[in-house]
Amino acid sequence: MIQKMMLRLWRSEKFAFLTFSLLGPIIKLFKLAHKFVRPYVKNGQVVADLGCSTGYNSLAMADFVGPEGKVYAVDLNKKSVRALEKKAEKGGYHNIEPHASSAADLSFIEDRSVDFVFANGLL
Ligand SMILES: C[S@@+](CC[C@H](N)C(=O)[O-])C[C@H]1O[C@@H](n2cnc3c(N)ncnc32)[C@H](O)[C@@H]1O
Repeated sequence: MIQKMMLRLWRSEKFAFLTFSLLGPIIKLFKLAHKFVRPYVKNGQVVADLGCSTGYNSLAMADFVGPEGKVYAVDLNKKSVRALEKKAEKGGYHNIEPHASSAADLSFIEDRSVDFVFANGLL
């Protein structure tokens, strides 16, 4: 029962949006994910950010892979994906491909085409 409630809360758009709006500045301040990911993501690679939320890590990885690389940014939450699309547009990123989709359905990604998968905090 409690587990089901937690699952519903975690998956709700408002929760995700609020949490990351509030915690975003703290996460950004320490750039923890970037430090962890940086050694693995190289220029020209294709990466997938599963559960990308509003794309804080997707944007960083887009910088790491450069214009020759590509970032698939995938999240269930349509609002988050829309926010990421706006950021990518504003920042002039052409190497991010956002998808509002479950990470369980990645049919838009070609088999064996991804070099690195970042999947933090999704269910
Ligand atoms: C805790 S946030 C993590 C955000 C980001 N990965 C990070 O490290 O800052 C989890 C995100 O995963 C998304 N999510 C949860 N389950 C998912 C699933 N099965 N497929 C795609 N996205 C999912 C939620 O909508 C939410 O935006």
